[in-house]
Amino acid sequence: MSEYLLEMKNITKTFPGVKALDNVNLNVRKGTVHALMGENGAGKSTLMKCLFGIYEPDGGEIFLEGKKASIHSARQAMDQGIAMVHQELHPIRFRSVMENVYLGRFPGHMGVVDHKVMYEKTKALFDDLELDVDPLALAGEQSAAILQMMEIARAVDMKAKIIILDEPTSSLSDREVDHLFKIINRLRAQGVAFVYISHKMKEILEISDEITVMRDGTYVGTWPVTDEKGEKLTIDFIIKQMVGREMTNQFPPREGKPSDDVVLKVENVCSPLKKSFQNVSFELHKQEILGIGGLVGAQRTEFVEALFGLRGIASGEILLNGARYTNKSPGFAKSRGLALLTEERRATGIFGILPILENTVIANQRSYAHFGVLNDGRRKTDADAECKKLNVKTPSLNTLIQNLSGGNQQKVLIARWLLTNSDILILDEPTRGIDVGAKYEIYNIMLEQIAQGKSIIMISSEMPELMGMSDRIMVMCEGRVTGFLNKGEYSQEKIMAFATQFAGRKDSTAA
Ligand SMILES: Nc1ncnc2c1ncn2[C@@H]1O[C@H](COP(=O)(O)OP(=O)(O)OP(=O)(O)O)[C@@H](O)[C@H]1O
Ligand SMILES: [Mg+2]
Repeated sequence: MSEYLLEMKNITKTFPGVKALDNVNLNVRKGTVHALMGENGAGKSTLMKCLFGIYEPDGGEIFLEGKKASIHSARQAMDQGIAMVHQELHPIRFRSVMENVYLGRFPGHMGVVDHKVMYEKTKALFDDLELDVDPLALAGEQSAAILQMMEIARAVDMKAKIIILDEPTSSLSDREVDHLFKIINRLRAQGVAFVYISHKMKEILEISDEITVMRDGTYVGTWPVTDEKGEKLTIDFIIKQMVGREMTNQFPPREGKPSDDVVLKVENVCSPLKKSFQNVSFELHKQEILGIGGLVGAQRTEFVEALFGLRGIASGEILLNGARYTNKSPGFAKSRGLALLTEERRATGIFGILPILENTVIANQRSYAHFGVLNDGRRKTDADAECKKLNVKTPSLNTLIQNLSGGNQQKVLIARWLLTNSDILILDEPTRGIDVGAKYEIYNIMLEQIAQGKSIIMISSEMPELMGMSDRIMVMCEGRVTGFLNKGEYSQEKIMAFATQFAGRKDSTAA
């Protein structure tokens, strides 16, 4: 018997114009969490799709428990004990939770589905995972956390030996992450192995036993998280392996200060929905980065969406450069110099079937038209320059955006909004799913915008980012502004205290 449950040897995969995997190795032991790390576009998701039978590798071999495996479809992968929870979840939204759990393997006799059995099995699975969800509820109405648990329940039910989690925590609250880790720990103790992909270093060090790093489609190395002497790997070491050089600073230096001019004044703005944002008031200064902190469910996204005209406002006043502003529509918001980078890129941001070029310039289309004729040359130069600046990893601007790695899709969206030359940039979780090196580039661009006289509102759930980049932090809890912190007085504890001001009340962190 091999000491490994899974061995991937010399896996190679080429897409038109990209060598996504070049002789990559991955060895995973039974009952361990194996982190797979690397910059955006390093090939992590591609390697896992080769394991899961979605992609056919051009070369290399896969062994399961020492035996050569042949995996040509997801079905075959599942039959051999491999389950995958994808980076972007696509549940069948109009079906129930239980139907999603048992998709493709409904219990029953001779073609008749036994809903009662399905219900009971799902209920038992959920109870076991301490998941309080009605199996009959619609999948489309569940939060990201629940959809993910649904996938894990499916894997558990199929008695998966290896569960692949591709960026499982990118839209989870801290409490949900704790729950996920509890479940991972339990399954690990039962011998299940996990391949865990994430850009969150702290989490990686907390949950994983071993780490494999990839860079540009190649294998860099594998290390135990804790060595024989009990010493843990450091974040700096991992970053160095990932980017191939030392990175000393996480945040570029901030030069200058916000001006005294107020560009946006929000007064007592209330949502028509009682449970959403209420009485939000603040001022945004020219050349200021105002961070908005809070837990999942704080209604930060809902608030900025309302500001941008995507949701209604029942009462309150908004002044833009001193003049009254109404949130008529996103088009109107844009015409007034507002830009919004949305949190859920799949749902609201990306035009998957269009090439990168169109995705980059789409918010700016009008400025390229002259007497109805598009200036294609300038579109290309602009898109090209922005994508280069952000280091978008792609063979060409004509590549479909859906073929880019998750993090690179996000970079294209950022490029899109930067091109609009808006005065107020609203960034909702701008660096979600983005690797350390590219984060630094995005921060740099934010500061460049500030230097050019722009202002930024940034929602972030990552404490270091919130504290590292904001000139001032506004914290929200359950739809209300609970406090402001000025630079110099930031601390995780203070932010958390405001973010949980109404904690103890029911559902305070519900997604
Ligand atoms: N279906 C595809 N067609 C063409 N190119 C692809 C396809 N899938 C992936 N690629 C390319 O392969 C490379 C590796 O992508 P992959 O998605 O594996 O990266 P990743 O390590 O998962 O990155 P991230 O952290 O951003 O999710 C990228 O350059 C990507 O553009
Ligand atoms: Mg990926």
